[in-house]
Amino acid sequence: MVNPERKIKLCISGMDKIYDNGDGVRNINLDVYNGELVTMLGPSGCGKTTILRTIGGFLSIEKGDITIDGKSITGLPPEKRPTAMVFQSYNLWPHMSIYENLAFGLKLRKIPKDEIARRIEAMLELVKMSGSQKKYPGQLSGGQQQRIAIARSLLLQPEVLLLDEPFSALDAKIRMQMREELKKIQSELGITVVFVTHDQEEAMAISHRIVVMNKGKFEQVGTPTEIYDNPASKYVASFIGEMNFLNRDNKIIAVRPEDVKILRGFKEGAINGTVRTIMILGHYVDVNIQWGEEVLKSFIPRTELSDLEVGGKVHVEFGKTLEFPVEGSS
Ligand SMILES: Nc1ncnc2c1ncn2[C@@H]1O[C@H](COP(=O)(O)OP(=O)(O)O)[C@@H](O)[C@H]1O
Ligand SMILES: [Mg+2]
Repeated sequence: MVNPERKIKLCISGMDKIYDNGDGVRNINLDVYNGELVTMLGPSGCGKTTILRTIGGFLSIEKGDITIDGKSITGLPPEKRPTAMVFQSYNLWPHMSIYENLAFGLKLRKIPKDEIARRIEAMLELVKMSGSQKKYPGQLSGGQQQRIAIARSLLLQPEVLLLDEPFSALDAKIRMQMREELKKIQSELGITVVFVTHDQEEAMAISHRIVVMNKGKFEQVGTPTEIYDNPASKYVASFIGEMNFLNRDNKIIAVRPEDVKILRGFKEGAINGTVRTIMILGHYVDVNIQWGEEVLKSFIPRTELSDLEVGGKVHVEFGKTLEFPVEGSS
């Protein structure tokens, strides 16, 4: 995947955006490659939207620069930037038909009418909303409205598409479906996307790279696998996926639940415990083991559950473990 000849599409360098109250983001540096989908992931308030809005031109910056294809865009208003943004709330015009919603930006660009109709038809097909031209936003479900909002942005043929938690108002099932479709559309069009979410699973599912954010700063930038397997800090380790943390000898030992192996019966010198809870979550099982004062979480395949029951005596072995310092808990 890492191709040395990849072209940088979007570059943010030494960027500060600080609000009057002192909140904001400082010294942001990020390269996004052509055709890449990069997700900014972090809890509410960590600065994701702030960064996205500085790229889109809805916020001015105090320091640094933002370039697209090597050209600075920091002085340009949103409509002059080669970006398009989709928000959590669909932002469709309720009194306009889907066709009118989609045609609006193209008309401003003086594109001929039959060309507009042709592009809209093709775009609706891409987002699986063929034939909805005459409908109104109120007649569509949340997921369908968000497809239209994405279609509207894509029709502007932006160099970089900015998506701010676009699926977070949708039901879990629809959200998963939208993820898959976004991924498909993104790779078909080869468009560069900066995606924002607080949902680590969503970030893992769709991203080429993830930027894990904490309080206005980048904690780690890497592929989903890099971040999952080698989290750079305890913060990242706890934010991405599930993790057991054990305080030992002034260190924190971290173990993923899938690396906690459960063996039957007590064993001398081993980590002995009793089964506290068993939750069958489809193809795998979440087993909690009480070990003294601590609770260890283990994920095991359902086929390995067999005779395991709550209260049963077991001992555990760890597969891969990670270590983090206790102090400063980086
Ligand atoms: N217009 C604003 N004025 C002052 N502070 C703001 C403004 N918008 C956001 N903030 C603050 O900046 C920080 C980052 O906010 P935001 O970028 O919205 O985070 P996120 O999108 O990750 O939830 C938060 O502390 C938030 O309260
Ligand atoms: Mg936000």
